[in-house]
Amino acid sequence: MIPRYLVNFDLEDLPGVGFDLVVVGSGVAGLSTALRAARRFRVALLTKTTLTVTATRIAQGGIASALGADDSPELHFEDTIKAGKGLCEEEAVWTLVREGPRRITELIEEVGAHFDCVDGHLDLTIEGGHSRRRVAHAQGDATGSELEASLTRRLLYNKRLDVFENYYAIDILTLDGRCAGVLGMNAEEGTMNYFRAPAVVLAMGGMGQLYPVTTNPEICTGDGVSMALRAGAEVADLEFLQFHPTSLHLPETPRWLISEALRGEGAVIVDHSGNRIMDGVHPLKDLAPRDTVVNEMVRVMKEQGIDHLLLDATHIPADKLKERFPTIYRHCLEAGVDITQVPIPVSPAAHYMSGGVVTDLHGRTRVKGLYACGEVACTGVHGANRLASNSLLEGLVFSWRIMQELPRAVSEGARELDGLSGLRHRSKRSRLPVEMSLLRRFVQQMMMDCVGFRRSKEGLEEAMEFIAKNLEVLRVEYLNPQGFELQNMITLSALMIRASLLREESRGCHYRVDFPGQAEFWRKHIVFRVEDGEIAHELRAVGALTGAGDGGVGDE
Ligand code: SIN
Repeated sequence: MIPRYLVNFDLEDLPGVGFDLVVVGSGVAGLSTALRAARRFRVALLTKTTLTVTATRIAQGGIASALGADDSPELHFEDTIKAGKGLCEEEAVWTLVREGPRRITELIEEVGAHFDCVDGHLDLTIEGGHSRRRVAHAQGDATGSELEASLTRRLLYNKRLDVFENYYAIDILTLDGRCAGVLGMNAEEGTMNYFRAPAVVLAMGGMGQLYPVTTNPEICTGDGVSMALRAGAEVADLEFLQFHPTSLHLPETPRWLISEALRGEGAVIVDHSGNRIMDGVHPLKDLAPRDTVVNEMVRVMKEQGIDHLLLDATHIPADKLKERFPTIYRHCLEAGVDITQVPIPVSPAAHYMSGGVVTDLHGRTRVKGLYACGEVACTGVHGANRLASNSLLEGLVFSWRIMQELPRAVSEGARELDGLSGLRHRSKRSRLPVEMSLLRRFVQQMMMDCVGFRRSKEGLEEAMEFIAKNLEVLRVEYLNPQGFELQNMITLSALMIRASLLREESRGCHYRVDFPGQAEFWRKHIVFRVEDGEIAHELRAVGALTGAGDGGVGDE
């Protein structure tokens, strides 16, 4: 049973504040939505910890777009579709690749972002699955941090925008099925309150923390997808959790992303005897799409009985490495690895959720007034496997599109929120003592063991059994963010396991050892929604992700 809200409340008893728009999340999708919206509307920007703790901030490699003289949106389209393994929504991909270059130019000219240049032109690099050099980068390998800093600088001068840090968004408020704001908690004080707004944009990132090894920051527990589901939105493609091939693998050290751009500049993955593992596996070798590289890494590690491989960049001149990858160089050196002298120990880590909250080309979900943008969303751009460096671009392109639609939602919705202060929710809650941090670790380990890059019916059923035994956690009345996170993680684990069991084939990031081939039947999205408190699923053909004629997304 999926509860509509994670807490009982009566808005009459809670402090509330009104805005035209609430944006939840402060990565590239949230910041760029808030920046545009605040030119016209009163905007609240909510962020779980501080403005700078986001997956965007630690994005290294860059932002892909057809900006090179030898490139075109058509070529970028082809590469994205190829990586997505038959599950991309073509219209969404065309939108991304055609509008991308203009959004990047605006970022440079209007927002003041600085990208690395050579002789006055963008210094474009290449990453896995790309047929052209089209990845723009900043400060070598600190692209996300530059994007975030430049967007934040612009935002902070805007008087129509209020930033609420350390604010945990618990649930989307709905009135007669329409989005009416956000219910949340000031995480420092532990007090609940609410934001009333006719439009809410979820830009809350992904769910890498469902796994014990991830490149994602601690905040990425999938809260956005879970709360959108509870509010009535559809979610899809959750079986496609992408593992990044190269995270720093050292004992007692948290995993840390080693950008694919390093391979773009010549680094290669080798086993402990120095053999290049990608030779003969794919024509693009070390720059094959991520799912292919991860699969081969896992195969070799299993065959050789080892838990990591090596990323060798030592043949690249030391000066170039230090200049082009200053963040990676410094970080590895501090961890005791001089990348100019020795290969870097690496293994795959959970990195990016290709699925999420189903949206149309204007970020609209099935719930009126509720939008989603960035990793939390499923526009269908990524299909079964995201093409490297398409994610920052997706945040920019679709936040711009949300803005085209927002004025109507704000003016329409404002008239419909009159009864909001009378909203209350009561459901039976238990106060079972559940050891949260222990259960969180068990869930993560179970996800890694049974819902990692290689899956089987047996393992998935075992995982489902584990989750089913712990579903009672959803009825516990937690009154703190750690508890809400755990509830969201359990909800998402259940969905990911169910989708992985249903999809009896291997495609993109989803690999079933018992169904190793790709099946034409499965050119479909697995879409979930809540019906009468239970999870219902539907298989939806590629090309029709948002559905039709049910009063859902996209209906005028
Ligand atoms: C990387 O720099 O390898 C990460 C880029 C991405 O995930 O798109």
